Formats: sequence, structure tokens, C-alpha cells
Amino acid sequence: MRFPIRRLRRLRKTAKMRSMIRETTLLPSDLVCPVFVQEGIDERITVESMPGIQRLPLSDVIGEVESIKSAGIPAIMLFGLPSSKDDAGSSAFDGDGIVQRAASEVSRAFGDDIVIMSDVCLCQYTLSGHCGVIRDGPGRGGGSPVIDNDSSLEVLAKIAVSQAESGVDVVSPSAMMDGQVSAIRTALDDSGFSDVLIMPHSAKHRSGFYSPFRDAAECAPQFGDRSTYQMPYTNAREAMLEIESDVEEGADIVMIKPALAYLDLVAEARRRLDLPVAAFSVSGEYALVRAAAAAGYVDGTQIALEILHSIKRAGADIIVTYFAKDVAGSLLAE
Ligand code: PBG
Ligand code: ZN
Repeated sequence: MRFPIRRLRRLRKTAKMRSMIRETTLLPSDLVCPVFVQEGIDERITVESMPGIQRLPLSDVIGEVESIKSAGIPAIMLFGLPSSKDDAGSSAFDGDGIVQRAASEVSRAFGDDIVIMSDVCLCQYTLSGHCGVIRDGPGRGGGSPVIDNDSSLEVLAKIAVSQAESGVDVVSPSAMMDGQVSAIRTALDDSGFSDVLIMPHSAKHRSGFYSPFRDAAECAPQFGDRSTYQMPYTNAREAMLEIESDVEEGADIVMIKPALAYLDLVAEARRRLDLPVAAFSVSGEYALVRAAAAAGYVDGTQIALEILHSIKRAGADIIVTYFAKDVAGSLLAE
């Protein structure tokens, strides 16, 4: 046999040849851009751990969405920072709450020209900083607080309905409570919102990659951690059970989070499902690249593009990323 029969370098001979055999294409239309909106401020607040990311006053939201839309990005994901927190997280389902007001302004201004997604959770709104309702737990030396699953479902459903009322197209519960998708689906349908989609954080891991987000959204737990509801990063089969139960409960799109350290799960979900698969490239993934780029160790844009393409290549249809606006231009130019 003459060496070598297969010379793969032939496929890489010219730029045109390389473009013809390209397997993965990332487009701005694959991306969702997170938007932080804070109640009671007049000027943007810089998020120190996430250079380039700011919390916006309500008055800046329309302008921000305009720039997202003109970059070719079809969707935003709203995160709210309320001016007051309480035990019940009631500012989360206030019809006049910060996410609700932002959503109604965006939906009035843009109509169907932007997809409005919003985070459905309690941690930004509760004094405890937990994603569910707290109750005194039984036993074990007397009543340490627990995150109560079933009473949290009612609240999450209320949040989702109030967001739908204000014009949100896709609600994205991130609390990792069992049954949250079916509770929200039932409540939405009962309130006449059968056309509002649910994109749950299906396999959301307890992750060190969320630290910068907690700066951005002021939602760090005030005691304990989230390990009784978020998944351990060691378990891939359990992640598939989480995803499958969300599908059974009526999820329209499933999501894996974080993205970069969890590409095996993205690929496995893609193999198993015919539903759209989303991946959330979280704050820490962004912060790492930004910090290394600021130090001059890497080319930040090149690394961001490589990471996002890897998430798409693993099988994600939709990528929530803080790089959305930065990379959209280079994607169209590629
Ligand atoms: C809270 C929430 C978190 C993120 C999205 N929603 C943080 C957490 O669970 O502690 C993380 C997003 C990011 O890091 O970009 N429910
Ligand atoms: Zn939460």
C-alpha cells in the first residue's frame, strides 16, 4: 500500500475549499443575549467581574434591545434586580416588578421583532438568596431551614404567569425544583397563555462558574449552598433524568448549564432528543476569557468564537451567552 492513501490536508488547501467542508456554522440567530435590569437606578452599573456587562436602569432597556436586535440576535433573556427583597420573594411576581415592566416596554416597542425570554426564579427576590421558599426542616437536632419544593412551585408558577402577562414569550425557570415545568405549564394554560414557551434550566449544576453572576444579580445564598437542588457536576446519567422529566412535563426547549465544562451532556441530550437543545454559557465562562484577554494571555474574541462553536458543534441549537453582542459581527463576517 502506498503511503498515505488518505491525505486530509488536501481538504485544507485553500480558504474556499475549507469553507466548503465546514461542518459547524454559528449564526447570530443562534444566540440569546442576557440583559440585567435593576429597579431604582438612573445610570448603568458596571459588573466588575464581567467587563463589558452592566446592569441597566429601566430607561436604558429599549436602547439596549435595539442594539441587540441590530446585531442580528433574535432573543434577550431578562434578569431582574428588585429594589426590595422579602421572605416570600413577592417582588418577583409583582405585576409592576422590574422584569414585568421591562418586558412590557420591550414587547410594546418591538412586538414580534424580538423574542423576550425571562429567568423565573426566587433567589434575586428572597432575603435568603435561595431559589425556593424556606421552611423549618424536620429533625436532625431540630429544624434547620430547608428549601421547600412544593410550596416553591406555586410561587414559580405565579412568577411565570405574571411575566407572561407582561409580554414574555419564553419563561425560563432556573430554580431546579422538581415539577417546576408542569406547575408552570398548568398555570400558564389556565391563565390563557398556552402559547408561551417554557425553556427550563433542565440540567443545571451547582457550579463555581456562577460566581460572577451573583455579583451581577445579587443573588448569593445567605446560608448554605444550592446543593440540595442544583445537580452535582459528577453525574451525567442523572442529568439525562432531569432532562427527560422536563420533557415529560412539557418543556419546549431543554437547557444544559453551564455549557463549556458540560459539552458531553449537550451532545448526549442532542443524541437522545428531537426537541431543541439550549446551552447556557454562564458568567464564569465569560469572566475567565475576559480576564485572560485583559492580561494579554489570549485573544478574547478568538477564544470566545472557539468556545461558542464548540457548544454548537456538541449539538446546541440555542446558546445563551454574554459574548452575544461581541461576537455577532464576526459571525456574519466569517
Ligand atoms: C439563579 C441563577 C443563576 C444563574 C442563572 N440563574 C445563579 C445560581 O444558580 O447561583 C447563573 C447564570 C450565570 O452564571 O451566568 N437562579
Ligand atoms: Zn435562583
